Amino acid sequence: MKIINVVGARPNFIKIAPIVAEMEKREDMEYLLVHTGQHYDFKMSQVFFQELEIPEPDIYLNIGSGSHTEQTAKIMIEFEKVLLKEKPDMVLVVGDVNSTMACCITAVKMDIPVAHVEAGLRSFDRTMPEEINRILTDSISDYLFTTEKSGEINLLKEGVSSNKIFFVGNVMIDSLLKNIEKAKKSDILDRLNIKKQEYVLATLHRPSNVDNKEGLSKIFEALEVIHKQIKIVYPVHPRTRKNIENFEMDKRFSFLKSLDVSSGNDNFLFIDSLGYLDFMMLMSQAKFILTDSGGIQEESTVLGVPCLTLRNNTERPETIDVGTNILVGTDNSKIIEESLKIINGDKKTGGIPSLWDGHAAKRIVDILIEKNKKGRD
Ligand code: UD1
Repeated sequence: MKIINVVGARPNFIKIAPIVAEMEKREDMEYLLVHTGQHYDFKMSQVFFQELEIPEPDIYLNIGSGSHTEQTAKIMIEFEKVLLKEKPDMVLVVGDVNSTMACCITAVKMDIPVAHVEAGLRSFDRTMPEEINRILTDSISDYLFTTEKSGEINLLKEGVSSNKIFFVGNVMIDSLLKNIEKAKKSDILDRLNIKKQEYVLATLHRPSNVDNKEGLSKIFEALEVIHKQIKIVYPVHPRTRKNIENFEMDKRFSFLKSLDVSSGNDNFLFIDSLGYLDFMMLMSQAKFILTDSGGIQEESTVLGVPCLTLRNNTERPETIDVGTNILVGTDNSKIIEESLKIINGDKKTGGIPSLWDGHAAKRIVDILIEKNKKGRD
């Protein structure tokens, strides 16, 4: 069985690592890794390959940044050439980024079955680019691997046949559990001169939060209040960095004085985006997390660290129902209120969602091999 695995953007690398490691163990499986190049900076891409021991991509499409249409179209054109040459039995895509959707459509148009890992998640907010990617990818994939119960419910409601849906758990958590001990050896706390439980870790990159000046200002107003109570460590995503510069946010918020690494004042550490191990270490020891990321909601739940999500919805409801996540929206008074509660000792505790046990990749590869055998018999 010959499979092409696709990655493009930062969260994809974390998800593909355990799948590729599992495929490596199987004799009856040949795989290739295609990197679209949607993310290309060392800190957004290569560092994850090194730290998660992902083999070098066999094929790099070198797509880079662009509008959604431009990026999607370029990926499709280049990926079609790969499929024509390699003729795989299946394409496997992960997550919900533009690379996921673009490669899924390309494969299906060429009559090649697609497996989608992390299927069925829905925020029910179609203004989110990822929601469109999820709906399109799921509606034409052949194997839908879900991470939580809501995934199956959503897919069934959309008319997907139940025999395409497989509840396998969460490959992002496979990576976390495999690497957490290694991550805890990171010296990032010393490098930043901070102590366990004495800081908040903040990340922001959703277009709805960072692409307009008013919205971003509101969030920074909240951070301005919070950083007077507790240190904030803020690794900045390239998209957000660009907007902070374009909107001249540093003129309005003195803690953003300089956009250099490790700048800001002592209580607001504005740093470059980090590699996987440093980031896991920072997450595991934080008093709490402020984020608009999808994956961080899941990782913080498994680490048992309170997470305040700066969004009005989440496609990952188990992180709220079972885990440590709370939706605080983007209204600064609510962000401040919930942050102060945790600072004053009132924090949400939680459990671990079902099958987030470190074995999702094994389940996925077992199913693919079994189905492929049945198909041939
Ligand atoms: C993408 C995904 C998002 C995911 C996020 C994780 C889509 C629609 N969005 O968002 O779901 O949560 O990745 O990080 O696929 N840039 C760099 N260097 C890089 C990559 C990007 O400087 O290596 C800058 C460029 O200015 C680019 C901007 O970041 O235009 C946005 O990159 P893009 O891949 O379009 O979307 P993300 O915001 O990273």
